[in-house]
Amino acid sequence: MPTLFRKVKDVRNYIRNLRHSAENNYSVGLVPTMGYLHEGHMELVRKSKLQNDITVVSIYVNPLQFGKGEDYERYPRDLERDLAMCEEAGVDIVFAPTDEEIYPQKPKVEINVEGISNVLEGAFRTGHFSGVALIVLKLFNIVQPDRAYFGEKDFQQLKLIERLVRDLSYPVEIVPVPTVRDKDGLALSSRNTYLKENERESALSIYRSFLIAQKLFKVGNTKAEDLKEAIKDYISRHPHVKKIDYVEIVDEEFNIKSDEVSEGDRILVAVWIGDTRLIDNWRLSYEEV
Ligand code: PAF
Repeated sequence: MPTLFRKVKDVRNYIRNLRHSAENNYSVGLVPTMGYLHEGHMELVRKSKLQNDITVVSIYVNPLQFGKGEDYERYPRDLERDLAMCEEAGVDIVFAPTDEEIYPQKPKVEINVEGISNVLEGAFRTGHFSGVALIVLKLFNIVQPDRAYFGEKDFQQLKLIERLVRDLSYPVEIVPVPTVRDKDGLALSSRNTYLKENERESALSIYRSFLIAQKLFKVGNTKAEDLKEAIKDYISRHPHVKKIDYVEIVDEEFNIKSDEVSEGDRILVAVWIGDTRLIDNWRLSYEEV
C-alpha cells in the first residue's frame, strides 16, 4: 500500500526526511489528480516511476476550480478504489488532504496568466484557472517535486502551468503526457462516468471530428476556419450534442490561430453531450494516425 497522508505537515516532513536520509540525489515525481483515477492518470504514474525515485499522487477535488452551478458536488470520489489503483501501480505516497488542510482560510491570492487564464476554458469557466494555478502551486510548495506530470488532455491547463513555472523560475520540470484514449477514441476523463450509454456514441464524434480535420490538413487545407467548420458541422449532427462551447486552434504558445494553421498546432474543443461537458484536443500533424 502507498503511504497515505492527510496533513500538509506530515507529508512535507516525510518527504524531507526521505531526501535527507538518501545518500545521493533523490528525485520526487508528483502526479496531481482530483481522484477517481483512470488509465490516463496511471500513464502519468508510470512515467513518473520511470524518471524518479519516489512517486507521489495527490488526490484532492479542489473547490476553487469549480464555478457556481458546476459539478463540484457530484464529481466522482472513491478514495478506497484510488488507493487500490495506486498500490497496483507502485505509487509510494498518496497525499489526500482535507479542505481545512489546504484552505485553512479563504485565499486572497489570485494567479492569472495573461492570454491563457481568461480565454477558451477560462472564458467559459470564470475563475477556473486561478483555482487550478493556486492548488498546483500549493502542491508544488508542499511536495517540492523535481518533476510534475500533467496530461495533454487538459492542454490549456498544461500550458498555464508551463508558463507559471517559467515566469516564476519554479524549480520543477513539467512533464507533459499524451492523452490516453479508449479503443474507440474517447479521451479518458473522470467525467466520462456521467455519460449515459446512448450519449457515449455521440461523445465519440469529438475524436472522429479530429480525424476529419486531420485528413483535410494532410491533403493541404491549412485554413483554420475550414477545419473548425468541418469539426463543428460533424459534431453537431449527432444526437445528444446540446451545445458546442468552442472549437479553436492554438499554436505551441497558446496564440489563437485565425488564419493559416501548421503542423504542431492544436485543435481544442469543448462540447456538451447531454448534461456532460467534455473537452478534448488534437495536435495537427502530417503523420499517419
Ligand atoms: O487536472 C486535474 O485533475 C486538476 O485540474 C489538477 C491539476 C489536479 C488541479 O486540481
